[in-house]
Amino acid sequence: MSAARLRELLHSCGHDWPAELAAFPVLDSTNDELRERVRGGSASTWLAVTAERQTAGRGRRGHGWSSPLGNLYLSVLAPMPALPDARPLVPLVAGLAVAEALLEFGVEARLKWPNDLLCGGRKLAGISAEASFGGGVPEAIVLGIGVNVRVNPLGDLATSMLERTGEGRDPIEVAAAVLTHVRDRHRELEAGACEPALDAWRARSVDWWGRPVEVTSGGQALRGLAVGVDGGGALILELPDGRRETVLAGEARELRLGGS
Ligand code: BTN
Repeated sequence: MSAARLRELLHSCGHDWPAELAAFPVLDSTNDELRERVRGGSASTWLAVTAERQTAGRGRRGHGWSSPLGNLYLSVLAPMPALPDARPLVPLVAGLAVAEALLEFGVEARLKWPNDLLCGGRKLAGISAEASFGGGVPEAIVLGIGVNVRVNPLGDLATSMLERTGEGRDPIEVAAAVLTHVRDRHRELEAGACEPALDAWRARSVDWWGRPVEVTSGGQALRGLAVGVDGGGALILELPDGRRETVLAGEARELRLGGS
């Protein structure tokens, strides 16, 4: 992937990208490269780093992220929105933006809270969102985005854009679409339009509302019925005793009838 080509594609989508675009054939992890640049003082917000493959890709909660050639690995340093209410929505809205970008390629993904993208119940893309402080950059968020463009690295648990459409797209095209939508949705949050973003997220979410789920958060597993997502992006659960609990961050999975 060439940074100059990515800039050109972004320009043709109406975005003169406001920061450096760095493209590598191989990295340990695009997130690590981006953080290294923040620490070294050479990063500005909207810096984006891509790699054609990663040797130590990282998923959420200490998991690895399998990163063969053919998929998209992208990290971008998004500014922290000025409006406090908008801040917790950045991870959700990043997922929404990726889902919207994939629609341009004929791929209809659903969002599983907080920001996994699923097709037919299988994982198509994952997003991590980590706060970034220091390095002379104002408080920002490192968004790490992995999309299975051509390769499904996990068999039955996952899928790829190629499997869904029969078309093998170039990850650079997907990168341009993803960055365009991330920037547009982020602008909306910065303008304080939280509800439209949340409504759009809800409209693209998996259809598990009213069904039993398990949420792991802070080392604790909670089971209950998934009720919805509140105005701060937290998942609302109805516990077996009828109480409602909101979960700010964690991992959720649907509990299938007869399963565990
Ligand atoms: C998840 O679903 O667990 C989040 C996966 C995030 C993977 C991406 S790939 C680009 C960036 N670099 C990494 O090492 N991780 C993120």
